[in-house]
Amino acid sequence: MTTRSLFATRFYEADLGDDDLVEELEDAALELAKADRAGVAWSKAHGYRGYTSYASLNDLPLRDPRFGDLVRLLNKHVAQFAKDCAFDLGGRKLKLDSFWVNVLKPGGAHSGHIHPHSVVSGTMYVAIPEGAGALKLEDPRLPMMMAAPTRLEDAAEDLRTFVYAEPKPGSVFLWESWLRHEVVPNAGPKKMDGERISISFNYRW
Ligand SMILES: [Fe+2]
Repeated sequence: MTTRSLFATRFYEADLGDDDLVEELEDAALELAKADRAGVAWSKAHGYRGYTSYASLNDLPLRDPRFGDLVRLLNKHVAQFAKDCAFDLGGRKLKLDSFWVNVLKPGGAHSGHIHPHSVVSGTMYVAIPEGAGALKLEDPRLPMMMAAPTRLEDAAEDLRTFVYAEPKPGSVFLWESWLRHEVVPNAGPKKMDGERISISFNYRW
């Protein structure tokens, strides 16, 4: 007897592979969180605990070479992930579509969402203080599970309804853009000490 796991949801985890750049990106993100007044105002008006450039700046890789360097590395990670997903891209490459910085204060979170109009989404983690929240990933078939029992606590990872991915500074996480995800406020009983800094992005075909 065999049972097979079908209809895979791929999740890519790698290290950026440039620790010096991660440090430079921390400075770049914190400088931005001070200088981008429109972004600060938007974050405040929308109840974001901290700062995000999501709604205020759309040219960061051109504006600051530190972000440009990051995009050159991310392009390679995304190309690798596209290969792993067996995407038939018709000889073209996935291209960066949007790119934004997040500086989340202790207690901050980001509720469940997907990234429409994109193929691959991801986050590169710059600063992850102790106690910072994980990335919670959700089984995309959840709306179909009307009468399904919940899974056992020790179920294999590919049978779980929620999976928590724990980033470190320099982690690159990638997933298909339809995969619902959220940033949970805290990973454990410890209070987060410092700001959780990450850079998120979408790639389109
Ligand atoms: Fe997201």
